[in-house]
Amino acid sequence: MELCADPAALTTWSDAHRVNGRRVALVPTMGALHHGHMALVDEARRHADVVAVSIFVNPLQFNHTDDFTAYPRPIDDDLAICRSHGVDAVYAPVAATMYPAGFQTHVEPGPLGDVLEGAQRPGHFRGVTTVVSKLFNAARPHVAVFGQKDFQQLAIIRRMTIDLDMGIEIVGMPTVRDPDGLAMSSRNRRLDDTQRRAAVCVPASLDAVRAAYAGGERRADELVALGRAVVEQEPLARFEHLELVDADTLQTVATADERTVAVTAVWFGEVRLIDNARVA
Ligand code: PAF
Repeated sequence: MELCADPAALTTWSDAHRVNGRRVALVPTMGALHHGHMALVDEARRHADVVAVSIFVNPLQFNHTDDFTAYPRPIDDDLAICRSHGVDAVYAPVAATMYPAGFQTHVEPGPLGDVLEGAQRPGHFRGVTTVVSKLFNAARPHVAVFGQKDFQQLAIIRRMTIDLDMGIEIVGMPTVRDPDGLAMSSRNRRLDDTQRRAAVCVPASLDAVRAAYAGGERRADELVALGRAVVEQEPLARFEHLELVDADTLQTVATADERTVAVTAVWFGEVRLIDNARVA
């Protein structure tokens, strides 16, 4: 497995494969790798001949220093997981390499970045689109794979690759869940045992929305109220938002249909979890 610490090394690795006609895939991550990430790697391998994983905790996309500092960084474990999973290259730059002195250029998302997570976390998606552009430029992938758990991020990155003529195929991978339904996330390891058990209310609230939709309820405010009630019954959970949005525009809807996605964020102590599900 090739270990690249700067963009030039990653580009050299990628170009060596491209020149030989091999398709290159990139799986961007912030590390603390789990089965969900390896599902992205497996999907990447279905679309390409060689797979690179980037591991970089991107300071530009964090709103609070504490959250950035507390983000897990088990780099040795991550490298071992990548190695045992047959990853061909890992790109793990330090922050000073990604953002050297004098860095000042950013990629600004459009209105898709202003709603939902973007409204709660100003500047977050600007940080994501900036770092993902840099990762794409260094890795020059034919295809990149992202999880659907970060539903809005995926929509924004798809838009960015089209708008900026990047010519990269973006593949969205269904969310991988623990047996109790909780979406796998690197943040889950910051939950203590009682919070982890309580966190099952997040997928349960989305299930409640889906069940009500299946039962014929179409009024978004009713569906939201049902889902919200599930979270509010859990004493360790702090409800942030649950919204029903159109899958493409991400605008909230008054009446749900098969294109509607329920998106939610819930806090457990200092840990903020997000999840989403199609209502149909
Ligand atoms: O989804 C993530 O882990 C991050 O937002 C990403 C895409 C790696 C950019 O830092």
